[in-house]
Amino acid sequence: MKGIILAGGKGTRLHPLTISTSKQLLPVYDKPMVYYPLSMLMLAGIREILVISSPEALPAFKDLLGDGHQWGLEFSYVQQDHPRGLADAFLLGKDFINRQPVSLILGDNIFFGHGLPDSLRKASELQEGALIFAYPVRDPERYGVVEFDEHGKALSIEEKPEKPRSHYAVPGIYFYDGRVVEFAESLTPSARGELEITDLNCIYLENSELRVEVLGRGVAWLDAGTHESLLQAAQFVQTLEDRQGMMISCPEEIAYRLGFIDRETLLQQAKMINNQYGDYLLRLLEEEIPFHNAG
Ligand code: TTP
Repeated sequence: MKGIILAGGKGTRLHPLTISTSKQLLPVYDKPMVYYPLSMLMLAGIREILVISSPEALPAFKDLLGDGHQWGLEFSYVQQDHPRGLADAFLLGKDFINRQPVSLILGDNIFFGHGLPDSLRKASELQEGALIFAYPVRDPERYGVVEFDEHGKALSIEEKPEKPRSHYAVPGIYFYDGRVVEFAESLTPSARGELEITDLNCIYLENSELRVEVLGRGVAWLDAGTHESLLQAAQFVQTLEDRQGMMISCPEEIAYRLGFIDRETLLQQAKMINNQYGDYLLRLLEEEIPFHNAG
């Protein structure tokens, strides 16, 4: 399976922070925001990754991430001239996707939790249909909302409904089969002028080819799109990392543990970062840190 990180957008809710830089490059405690969604794709076992961002921000993403070889990955880049909606990722990524199954993750979505790597690995085996997740939130009207019947079967999905039919929001990680580009090409812009991922999911739902997996309270899903939520996300990461002595969503660590890179490659990177982050990578090599696969 291939992966796409959608990291464009205007980030207006974070102004003035995002006037001259991309939201997804802002720090979430000790690493750039984009490391978190990237880590989820890596945990799913995905190594061929397309990064989509605005023309202004794309050079900075290339500087930060390079061609991916340092983490045993292969990055490609495409620019999105205007934020035309989440489903635009599949039009921009048409050549990259090349009719293969693909996962899309939003560049400002942060996940952490028990069992998540397992769920992601299983999701990445998808060959037919689509798989999305549902997560209970207090304010579902801000998201795509899934309604379930009494057997847990998805009945409907609505984008930012005024009267949500449930508390289950759809988080920003999605898995599709190789027909996703074809379906995305059939979409027309919504009233707010965007190609909606919810409309795409509805196509799979109507074909009875959509699976919706509920993420329970053991998983944290944070979106770092406002001043308050950005700070909360940073505090969440700091609290856990400080308590456990293990990092959350550290691409170097995941690459090493999953065998994408060898000891030597990890050591080279550890030596380039002269602070606690680099020290942590060195401790990994000394095997002082227990294996913990929650990402
Ligand atoms: P949003 O949070 O909906 O939009 P935004 O990031 O521009 O922020 P704001 O609402 O404050 O203006 O986007 C969710 C994620 O998807 C975010 O990581 C940006 C990305 N995105 C794109 O890259 N292209 C798009 O066309 C859209 C709509 C979003």
